[in-house]
Amino acid sequence: MSDVLALQYMLKGKHIVLGISGGIAAYKSVMLLRLFVKAGAEVQVVITPNGKQFITPVTLSSLSGKPVISEFFTANTGEWHSHVDLGLWADAMVIAPATASTIAKMANGVADNMLITSYLSTRAKVFAAPAMDLDMWKHPSTQRNLAMLRADGVGIIEPEAGELASGLVGKGRMEEPEKIFEAVASYLTGNKPLAGKTYLVTAGPTYENIDPVRFIGNHSSGKMGFALAKALSDFGAKVRLVAGPVSLPTPEGEIERIDVVSAREMLAASESVFAECDGAIFCAAVADYAPAECAEKKIKREKRDSMTIELVKNPDISARLGQLKRPNQTLVGFALETDNETENATGKMMRKGLDWIALNSLRDAGAGFRTDTNKVTLIAADGRVSEIPLMAKSEVARRMVETIFCNADNQ
Ligand code: PMT
Repeated sequence: MSDVLALQYMLKGKHIVLGISGGIAAYKSVMLLRLFVKAGAEVQVVITPNGKQFITPVTLSSLSGKPVISEFFTANTGEWHSHVDLGLWADAMVIAPATASTIAKMANGVADNMLITSYLSTRAKVFAAPAMDLDMWKHPSTQRNLAMLRADGVGIIEPEAGELASGLVGKGRMEEPEKIFEAVASYLTGNKPLAGKTYLVTAGPTYENIDPVRFIGNHSSGKMGFALAKALSDFGAKVRLVAGPVSLPTPEGEIERIDVVSAREMLAASESVFAECDGAIFCAAVADYAPAECAEKKIKREKRDSMTIELVKNPDISARLGQLKRPNQTLVGFALETDNETENATGKMMRKGLDWIALNSLRDAGAGFRTDTNKVTLIAADGRVSEIPLMAKSEVARRMVETIFCNADNQ
């Protein structure tokens, strides 16, 4: 909450349209509205007819000091609400909660309520904080619509994983009001401590081909590395994201993505951008070994009862760049350990010439490969240690970037 306090009164003179659609998370929008108002913003609430089933306009108008808009016309006076004027008035529009239906309507321009007509009319930056049940969130239709919105420039504030109103547990819970507030306030105030900086992030696994159809790989999904790229970009940095084979969309922001497959390709791509970077985070799970040769044709099973593949050591990307490091570059590695964790991680940091290492342990439930959460111990070469408890990878990433790069003492 301290970040929020620091941002108070910083939104004076800013106009925000807060769109509320019909989901149980609408109760959290009251807190979000309060944060905007406390920070000095003028807020116009637009609520869908279904939204009113979850939260009353009286509560919202009492907090915003403005009548809540829901219908195209006011019933008793016949007054018409101009969605065009509202769209132009806004410095930012925030749709929280954004239900699956509202997301679908936004993606497809289905202008059948005031919230969507205002969305279509606004020239301001739009943020959407989805909230829905986990299966609705995972549904290909929702994910397709979200991809369209991202391509249209809408800032999607990802939902969290946790207990849902249905009693099921999974991703779909609307992000907390403080986090939504921070994203919007940071956009509106241009709070970008890393503006002008460029960082390299390696992410995902590498695949080392055995033949045209088989490879040696690992379980990395790229989620942690992509979250770091997004966090750096949210703080104003440009990012060169060198990604192994993953099926994740490029996060929104000034992020240039270079897709690679093998460790050697990852090294070449990383080396090509390293000189222009102020630092790097090596989050990729790079295969330590690769087949000495890749067969040109698929190796036939029937011809052999057993087989031996000769493996050769891959280059160590972080160690190679650690040798090239300039004094004004800050390098961060990751260590995924199962035993002697702190000792192993510290050893890796020193051997590779890194400034920090983020230790995640496979012994911690919810940490490491594929999960949406992580738990990290940050260890600095000068001995400082900072614990980041189990939380969403997006939040772990934000805290890592804040601790390592936004703190002037660390530069
Ligand atoms: O992608 P996710 O599913 O979200 O999972 C995230 C993660 C668990 C992969 C990530 O948090 C993580 O721990 N990444 C590093 C895993 C790893 O391979 O650790 P390592 O101990 O093998 O390597 C240590 C460091 O050297 C890492 O920064 C690694 O990127 C780097 N390295 C290793 C080998 C190599 N040839 N080149 C490298 O740059």
